[in-house]
Amino acid sequence: MTLSPIHILGKDGGGSLKNTLSVSSIHNRSLGPDCISEDMNNPRILITGALGQLGSGLAKMLRAKFGPENVIMSDINKAPKHILEAGPFVYADIMDLKGLKEIVVNYEVDWLIHFGALLSAIGEANVPLAMKINIEGVHNILEVAKQYNLKCLIPSTIGAFGPDSPRALTPDLTIQRPRTIYGVSKVHAELMGEYYHHKYGLDFRSLRYPGVISADTKPGGGTTDYAVEIFHDAIKTGKFQCFLKPDTRLPMMYVKDTLRSTVKFLRVPSDQLTMRTYNVTAMSFTPAELAEEVRKFMPNLEVTYRIDPVKQAIADQWPQVLDDSRARADWGWQHQYDLSTMCQAMFAKLKPDRVLFETNYYRVY
Ligand SMILES: NC(=O)c1ccc[n+]([C@@H]2O[C@H](COP(=O)([O-])OP(=O)(O)OC[C@H]3O[C@@H](n4cnc5c(N)ncnc54)[C@H](O)[C@@H]3O)[C@@H](O)[C@H]2O)c1
Repeated sequence: MTLSPIHILGKDGGGSLKNTLSVSSIHNRSLGPDCISEDMNNPRILITGALGQLGSGLAKMLRAKFGPENVIMSDINKAPKHILEAGPFVYADIMDLKGLKEIVVNYEVDWLIHFGALLSAIGEANVPLAMKINIEGVHNILEVAKQYNLKCLIPSTIGAFGPDSPRALTPDLTIQRPRTIYGVSKVHAELMGEYYHHKYGLDFRSLRYPGVISADTKPGGGTTDYAVEIFHDAIKTGKFQCFLKPDTRLPMMYVKDTLRSTVKFLRVPSDQLTMRTYNVTAMSFTPAELAEEVRKFMPNLEVTYRIDPVKQAIADQWPQVLDDSRARADWGWQHQYDLSTMCQAMFAKLKPDRVLFETNYYRVY
């Protein structure tokens, strides 16, 4: 979809954002009034950490629903040109409480989607930084959301479970004693968000995502990243060295399902939710099973295993299969991609000739 240029205006169509032009950190584009969303009741949404694996896809999906000008992407990194051209993008460091407030006020934000984080393997390699970003940062997000009465989504993860949690069909409510700083910080976020909900009435929501598989962006240092890397390596070299053992079963989701679940969850009326933190998933597989599926497209793929002890130890503590029946019952969650259709979708994006010529059956558009 080609997005037309954007004129960022207040929700009343007036120029309340004029003030922000003096804020040097805000990237603003002043363009035609025809780009104002037709529905002035659309929420104005801020996404933190939006340049990561999930942020730009979510922004695209939300912009299609609510209008490009109503979704503000933010990060501490510089955005590439195509992101700057697609809609509002601002610098936002989640450690800077005042800066966050400034953006929320200037942009009249209604929903705060918090994607800024350090993922599992990276967090384990830098515990003080992970504590800062994933714990102190979350405090800032919750404070801003409370002060300005924002709907607030902070994703959680299968990493919020631990070795004492049941690993087969892990339910929403169960023992959570994770042993990674990533997991500990995510349990902290779940509990703090729920505390703010009960104490202050904050519309806090959280989804526990499994490993997310996406062709568009590089993964951010997670334990499930092998399931993305295999596609790139298979196409580039015909070889793949896996950092997890062949029989390590983990829950996974194709990115389109992750984003659809997020948008659907955000739109559910608050009183329809029986919980504030839900499991969501689509499939579970092992590296060996994934390699077998990838070989349907690249029959000569060679897979070897060189185990990363840190990542393997993390994976061995995580659920193998996630029970997301409450999400399905409460707000109608349904996945669309399984192992086979996810592989079709990945090859359709990364190497479409494989999909079209090698296997007629795998014709995907
Ligand atoms: N991708 C997955 O497989 C997965 C699985 C489960 C949960 N999640 C959760 O989903 C959310 C988004 O994940 P992702 O995969 O897009 O992460 P990612 O690592 O790809 O991106 C995180 C982003 O946060 C930004 N960031 C880091 N420090 C920041 C700071 N101080 N202020 C603002 N931004 C900062 C980074 O620049 C980066 O763009 C995270 O909360 C993550 O824990 C992701």
